Amino acid sequence: MRHPLHSICPYFAMFPEDFVAKQLLAFTRRGDWVFDPFSGRGTTVFESLINGRNAAGTDINPVAACISGAKADSPTLRNTLTRLDALEASYVETRNCSPRPASEFFKWCFHEKTLGEVQHLRTNLDWRKSKVDRFISAVALGCLHGESHKTPNCLSNRMPRTISTKPEYSVKWWKARGLSAPERSTFAVLRSMVKFRMQERPPELSGDVKLRDARLSGKAFPSLKEKVSLIVTSPPYLDTTDYNEDQWLRLWFLGGPELPISGKNRDDRHTNLGDYWSFLQEAWAGVEPLVKRGTHVVVRIGGTRIPKQDLSEGVLQSLQSGFQGYRVKALHAGATTEIRNRQTNVFRPGTSAARFEHDFTFKVVG
Ligand SMILES: C[S@@+](CC[C@H](N)C(=O)[O-])C[C@H]1O[C@@H](n2cnc3c(N)ncnc32)[C@H](O)[C@@H]1O
Repeated sequence: MRHPLHSICPYFAMFPEDFVAKQLLAFTRRGDWVFDPFSGRGTTVFESLINGRNAAGTDINPVAACISGAKADSPTLRNTLTRLDALEASYVETRNCSPRPASEFFKWCFHEKTLGEVQHLRTNLDWRKSKVDRFISAVALGCLHGESHKTPNCLSNRMPRTISTKPEYSVKWWKARGLSAPERSTFAVLRSMVKFRMQERPPELSGDVKLRDARLSGKAFPSLKEKVSLIVTSPPYLDTTDYNEDQWLRLWFLGGPELPISGKNRDDRHTNLGDYWSFLQEAWAGVEPLVKRGTHVVVRIGGTRIPKQDLSEGVLQSLQSGFQGYRVKALHAGATTEIRNRQTNVFRPGTSAARFEHDFTFKVVG
């Protein structure tokens, strides 16, 4: 059975856990170290831990770091429910004190009562410092928006669950269809989702995902120097998506601004091929302290503008120049899959959607 923590919160361009499981089986043994410098929703880290491998990662996006971190090192159910009770009690005492966001979007997106509760959680959850609060935040991120006409466990007016649509577009869409936000009891939804996510035992090992630029991986994990046996990762694709813009409502919940901001992380959507390869090279250089002779690197990557052969050569070259103290060799020509559900097309007209993804495997040889 799929571990319920895997799907705590969806994320754009996530890869499936069986992809990671296959690499673990092929290239590692129990107790080995696995690393993902672009962790996203934490599939590599969590699947590794489930399979008895040690795991760590980085991601520059707070949503990704919160979700990945919550999966990598989860608190006990008891501590989580106790904290939720305390948060609810403090909300009852202060219910009219937290200022609500002023924009029209929030009035349409959340029922007034739900918005008060969400705002209270946003103000009081210390997700960067407390692992209990990080876990509650990750569960809340997974419920914050989605297809509320299909599930009672979603707090918003109707929206996709994977990405948050832009404010103006959303309000227009809701108005045109006469859709109003459902009244939800946020604390009841969270309690029920926490119990559901924690019904399975967590992995015996715990991992760590830091909110960091991949370029700083070695500095972020000095104790992992030359310890990593396997890297399974998927960097942002060329000219495909902007994770900050796509996750703007979740970023707001984690303390960010009340509106989407594009271009905040320049590495999310490189449009210039030369800059893109430089970025990857810098990222590998940041990871280099963690690798050793024999480390395998599995990279899932896409992008319609770059033919497969060029991608394969580009990734190899970026690895060779990034891992300066080693030689790197490609183990095969790459496996290709077609992406059927291309949400970028629907929500981001004008950018190229990655129609195919390729999996490349490399080995650090000396
Ligand atoms: C394709 S997604 C990874 C998805 C992941 N494999 C999963 O299953 O969820 C790429 C990730 O790279 C992150 N990212 C972009 N630039 C970064 C950087 N400079 N350092 C670290 N992470 C970065 C994005 O925030 C995004 O989460």
